[in-house]
Amino acid sequence: MDDLTPDPGELDPIEKSSIDELRALQIERLRWSLNHAYENVDHYRRAFDAAGVHPDDCRELTDLSRFPFTVKADLRDNYPFGMFAVPREQISRIHASSGTTGKPTVVGYTAGDLAIWSHVMARSIRAAGGRRGHILHNAYGYGLFTGGLGAHYGAEELGCTVVPVSGGMTERQVQLITDFRPDIIMVTPSYMLNIIDEMERQGLDPRGTSLKVGIFGAEPWTNDMRFEMEQRLDMHAVDIYGLSEVMGPGIASECVETKDGLHIWEDHFYPEIIDPFTGEVLPDGSEGELVFTSLTKQAMPVIRYRTRDLTKLLPGTARLMRRMEKITGRSDDMIILRGVNLFPTQIEELILRTPELSPHFQCVLTRQGRMDDLTVLVERREAAPMVQAIDAGRALRHHIKATIGVTVAVDVVDPDTVERSVGKMRRIVDKRNAR
Ligand code: DLL
Repeated sequence: MDDLTPDPGELDPIEKSSIDELRALQIERLRWSLNHAYENVDHYRRAFDAAGVHPDDCRELTDLSRFPFTVKADLRDNYPFGMFAVPREQISRIHASSGTTGKPTVVGYTAGDLAIWSHVMARSIRAAGGRRGHILHNAYGYGLFTGGLGAHYGAEELGCTVVPVSGGMTERQVQLITDFRPDIIMVTPSYMLNIIDEMERQGLDPRGTSLKVGIFGAEPWTNDMRFEMEQRLDMHAVDIYGLSEVMGPGIASECVETKDGLHIWEDHFYPEIIDPFTGEVLPDGSEGELVFTSLTKQAMPVIRYRTRDLTKLLPGTARLMRRMEKITGRSDDMIILRGVNLFPTQIEELILRTPELSPHFQCVLTRQGRMDDLTVLVERREAAPMVQAIDAGRALRHHIKATIGVTVAVDVVDPDTVERSVGKMRRIVDKRNAR
């Protein structure tokens, strides 16, 4: 794999500044953002007043903990445009994420917001190893989802040649990768696996493509999955994070030279980690729920937005700004089985350490009487005969019991039988209320 470490001269000045400079910029921007939200959004004015705080009470960064949280329900209650802090005519673009129930969550951007988003997205692609002049195959979905357009404008800003493929039509994805010879691919990790399978089906060697880097995000994936992809594709696999409520992709990104967690672009998004039960702010290094406050957003400032994503904050390494560890999972995706908490990422890790089993899996929840059961539905690898794969499934069951502490069923199935995604993979299939 090529060394794609960016030259220090290519970085933004703030990526190389001092902690003191960064903190000074953050407090100045935080005070602006709190005032902007309070003055222009009824919801924030009411919430701050109810909590007995005023933007002027924020003198240091730690004062932020006195302000109330914002949750997804607040965005839904103000559907569609009630959280906007500027007149609708100044909104240049809308995105939305489809919830599992009810109305989508709507977000809006001014032209200035879009410029900042492109800038942080370009910074993310550069951190991942992308350069001016690279060809970038963008297989994140275009449309209301922030992945496609977010990556697109960032890549253009960096000076890449963008191939706006969007998700789906896997055969065509493979054809374009073969013919256009891209350097970078941006796609969800689960869809990348499908593209690899399609290459193999067509008799192509995935290690022989032109790809140098994959920038994977929008869903949790583990370091074991990174190893799998880097081995199968002979390229770097780098993590990118974001969520529409705060901006979209490009809030945090891994650096290709370290791959040790995602640097948060703290000059625009201020992170906190809280105890999800008490709401108390936890010190860096503690595992908890990630909370973001936007520092520069005009159209839709977010103050202490609870992401439900679980991670920890770590000191900067390749860059000055703090890192977040790879996301373990969303609190919504935590399975509680006979009193034990478990995430699909833990299952993914153990599957990938079992050579006969493929990374295509789902966690199926069922209920018998009052007892919940979990079945791990996993495909055998093409090369592994079924008898051996079934033995491997037994071993997996044993490892899950030994490391996570719960008894589950493991159902090993043939290749190409587990549901496939073209975007975010549905890892948990909940059949508990099915009749
Ligand atoms: O998924 C934005 C995005 C697009 C990020 C492309 C990266 C690449 P939403 O659809 O609003 O936005 O979903 C946000 O996805 O709260 C996490 O639970 C999850 N997520 C996003 N990136 C990662 C990641 C986009 N790198 C939700 N690791 C977030 C784990 C991720 N989970």
